[in-house]
Amino acid sequence: GHENNSLAKSPMEQSNLSANTVMDHPRALTDKINLIRDAGPSKFQVIADFDATLTRYRVNGLRGQTSHGLLQQGNAYYDAKRQALYDHYHPLEISPLIPVDEKTKLMEEWWSKTHELLIEGGLTYEAIKKSVADSSIAFRQGVTELFEFLEKKEIPVLIFSAGLADVIEEVLRQNLHRTFKNVKIVSNRMVFNDDGQLVSFKGKLIHVLNKNEHALDMAAPLHDRLGVDTAEEDEENANMKKRTNVLLMGDHLGDLRMSDGLNYETRISIGFLNDNIEKSLESYREAFDLVYLNDAPMWGVLELVSQLF
Ligand code: TMP
Repeated sequence: GHENNSLAKSPMEQSNLSANTVMDHPRALTDKINLIRDAGPSKFQVIADFDATLTRYRVNGLRGQTSHGLLQQGNAYYDAKRQALYDHYHPLEISPLIPVDEKTKLMEEWWSKTHELLIEGGLTYEAIKKSVADSSIAFRQGVTELFEFLEKKEIPVLIFSAGLADVIEEVLRQNLHRTFKNVKIVSNRMVFNDDGQLVSFKGKLIHVLNKNEHALDMAAPLHDRLGVDTAEEDEENANMKKRTNVLLMGDHLGDLRMSDGLNYETRISIGFLNDNIEKSLESYREAFDLVYLNDAPMWGVLELVSQLF
């Protein structure tokens, strides 16, 4: 591999040659850039994971919170019960020893139980707002600028998360101080009653092992799966399938599967390696076109997309 190496020729490559960037095949990346550029912005979409990809891994020296992690129901009993589930299931989530079908069952169990506790504990939208205001969560520098650039070019961004859509939207509102019409959250979406209390979740569960197939799979009616309500949105989602060039960003190798539902032509993949760098760098540099280390900001990604269009 060539870290920080001088083979890279294009300005994009040079600008990315900081100590936080690892790129094994600069020429392959340049080829992909040319293909995507030639096809034009109407063929292009961005798919991003949320936690520790768009957001920082560390905030003020501590592990930043996730959409699940930050949520305080305003009810210590239920918060503790969800924490107990986390303590039980998270080690299973990251265990390399559990076969995927078995792990899928366990993750469905975890997500169902957590969702039940949120409903049973009477989560309110007000509690979400307060939790987000009190949270330690922060976007990487340059996320706003990246979204603004993509919005100007009418390039859609899908944020896939096994977390909670309503929490993520509130995080976007409070931290980016605006909404983007090209940015769409594909995650578990809540249904509130008139009193602002959570009563159910829309559609099928999205957990860590299926957040791929959900997002762009057009086989099942969208309203059932994604909580999408209108025919217009159905069409919008079908159009996403025609955008066959993609920039994918994630912080786990499994995030590469977010594009599974898309029969893509050219994919540029960007990995944010936040933890266990020594152990994981080899597999990340193999799997991703570009790897960013040390909670790198989004400036390199912004530069990359501005070279495309
Ligand atoms: P993602 O951000 O990669 O899509 O995954 C969501 C994370 O949420 C996953 O790593 C497990 C975590 N999680 C919790 O922290 N608490 C919970 O109650 C549940 C169901 C998941």
